[in-house]
Amino acid sequence: MKLFSCVYLLILVTSAASIMMKYTDCGSTATIHFILIEECHHDPCVLQSGHNYTILVSFTPRERHNQVRSLMSLTDPLKTDTPVPVWTNYQCGDLSVLCPVQPGILQTYSANFVGPYHSTINVDLKWEIKDEKDHEIICFILAELIQ
Ligand SMILES: *[C@@H]1O[C@H](CO)[C@@H](O)[C@H](O)[C@H]1NC(C)=O
Repeated sequence: MKLFSCVYLLILVTSAASIMMKYTDCGSTATIHFILIEECHHDPCVLQSGHNYTILVSFTPRERHNQVRSLMSLTDPLKTDTPVPVWTNYQCGDLSVLCPVQPGILQTYSANFVGPYHSTINVDLKWEIKDEKDHEIICFILAELIQ
């Protein structure tokens, strides 16, 4: 428990200037505690095309997962989906996390993505983390603006 409290504290301290983002859940089996984008101090965030962002999600899984992979996409008002590449270190699946992911233990995942180039201003940014059986561990949507 001590370790996880420390991790929690570290995140809160290092991201003191960031704010927790409002989100819509799209089928998470885990409990999401908070989501933040380190560079964002407003909600909705105004994402600048080409800028490198660090997104963080803190959650507690309810199940055991052997592998994890990440999928990010952007949906515009015409409901066109565009994949957004996400950078993480490759360790378990495509995320730098210890596997298997154990239920009941707080996890914090972070990833980098580049502010997409898009012709519309209002977009929904969706981040899904799925397991080896394609079950959603977390799925959330953030309403953002693109500059
Ligand atoms: C974004 O920043 C992270 C952390 O500084 C870095 O590891 C990553 O390579 C950068 N990604 C891109 C696409 O520039």
